[in-house]
Amino acid sequence: MWKGRFSQDTSSLVQQFGESISYDWRLFPHDIAGSIAHARGQLAAGLLSGDEFAAIESGLRAIEADIRAGAFEFKTSLEDIHMNIEAELTRRIGPPGAKLHTARSRNDQVATDTRLYCRSEIDGLTAAIRSLQLALLERAERYAATVIPGYTHLQRGQPVTVGHQFLAYVEMLERDNDRLADCRRRLNLSPLGSGALAGSTINLDRHAIAAELGFDGITHNSMDAIADRDYIAELLFVIALCGTHLSRLSEDLILWCTSEFAFVALSDAHTTGSSLMPQKKNPDVCELTRGKTGRLVGNLVNLLVALKGLPLTYNRDLQEDKPPLFDSVDTLRLILAVNTEMISAVELREDNCRRAAADPMLLATDLADHLVKSGIPFRHAHELVGKAVAEALGRGIPLDQLDFPALDPAFGNDAAAVFSLDRALASRTNPGSPSLANIRAEILCWQGKMRP
Ligand code: ARG
Repeated sequence: MWKGRFSQDTSSLVQQFGESISYDWRLFPHDIAGSIAHARGQLAAGLLSGDEFAAIESGLRAIEADIRAGAFEFKTSLEDIHMNIEAELTRRIGPPGAKLHTARSRNDQVATDTRLYCRSEIDGLTAAIRSLQLALLERAERYAATVIPGYTHLQRGQPVTVGHQFLAYVEMLERDNDRLADCRRRLNLSPLGSGALAGSTINLDRHAIAAELGFDGITHNSMDAIADRDYIAELLFVIALCGTHLSRLSEDLILWCTSEFAFVALSDAHTTGSSLMPQKKNPDVCELTRGKTGRLVGNLVNLLVALKGLPLTYNRDLQEDKPPLFDSVDTLRLILAVNTEMISAVELREDNCRRAAADPMLLATDLADHLVKSGIPFRHAHELVGKAVAEALGRGIPLDQLDFPALDPAFGNDAAAVFSLDRALASRTNPGSPSLANIRAEILCWQGKMRP
C-alpha cells in the first residue's frame, strides 16, 4: 500500500510483529459498512460515477459474504482488516477499488470500525444483562419470603430474605446497563472525514455518511477523533465493573453452598466433581466468574497504560486496543450467559436458611429499637442490649430466653415479643427495607420495567 516511497520489502519478522489481521478480521462487517457509506459520500461528491459506486458496493458485499462463509483468505502481509478488504476489492473490480481510499485514512477508518463494533456489542451485552436480571428476578420471586441472616463483616447481622438479596443484584446490574447506555450515547459520533489527523482537502458530506452508519452526529476535532479511545476505555470499565458485580454474586453463592452455610444447592449441570474426592461438588462456574473478572480488570488497566504516554494523534500503540477489547467483550458475554443459566436453576435449601435465620441474636438491634420506642436514647438502649447479649452468651442460652424485666425494668413486659421473625421483617416497611410487602412491590416494579 505504500510501495511508492519504499525500495525494500517489510521484513517478515516486522510483518509478524505488526500484523493485526489475526484478530481484527472480526471488524469486517463494520469495515464494510463504513466503506460503503464512505463510497456513497464519494458518489454524492461526484468523485465516483454511478457504475463505479455500484461496483464498489457489490464488490464489498461479495467480500462480506465470502468472509462469513469462511471462503476469504486473509493475508498477514496486508497487515490488517482494512488493507485486506481494500486490496481484495481492487483485485476483484479493478480501478474503482483504487478510488475508495480517497479522502480517508486507516486512522479514521479504524476509529469508525471500533466505534461501530463497540456499539453493536453494547447492544448484545445489554440484552444479556437483561436476561440475567430476569433470571434473578424469577428466583427473587420464588424465594421472596425465604428468611436468611444478612451479613456485614461476614458476621450475622439482621434478618433479610433471599428475595431481597437477589434483588440487590438486579439493581446493581441495572446500573451496569445504565452505564452501557451512557457509553453508547457518547461513542455514537462518526469520526469518518478526520482523515489521517487533519481532515481532507476533499470535502465529503460527513453528516450524511454519519447518518447512513446510524451515528447521532459527527466528531468535531479531527485530531481528537483520531487519537480518542475513550469509548473503549469506558466500555472496558463498565465491563470490568459488571464482572466485579458478578464476582461478588459468585462469592455469595460459593459461601452459600459450603457445608458450613448450606443455604443453596447448585444444579449438577453447573458444578463439577473431583477426580479424587468422590463427595465433592464444586462451584466452578462461580470460581471462574471470580477468576475471569481479574482478566476484565487487567484489560482495562492494559488499555489505560497503553494510552497514557501517547502524544496526539495516531500512534501504532493504538492497535493494541483491540485484544483487550475483544477479550473483555467475549469474556463478559460468556460470563453472563453461563450465570443466567446457573441462576435459573439455583435451589435454596430453605430448612437450613430457616434454621440460620432463627438465631435470636439477629434481632438484638430490634430489641434496642423496642427500648427506643419507649423513650430510651439509642446509645443507652444499645448498652442495655449489649449487656443482655453478654449475659446470654455467658450463660450459654439463646438471647430470647432471658428474663428481660428482671434484667432491667426498662425492657418492660413485652420485650420477648420482639423475637418474632415474622414481625421483625414485617415491620421493616421503610422504602428499601426488606418487609415482604416491600419485596413483592419491588418485584412487581422490576417486572413492569423489564417486560414492558
Ligand atoms: N491496524 C491499525 C490499528 O488497528 C489500523 C490503523 C493503521 N494506521 C497506521 N497509520 N498505521 O490501529
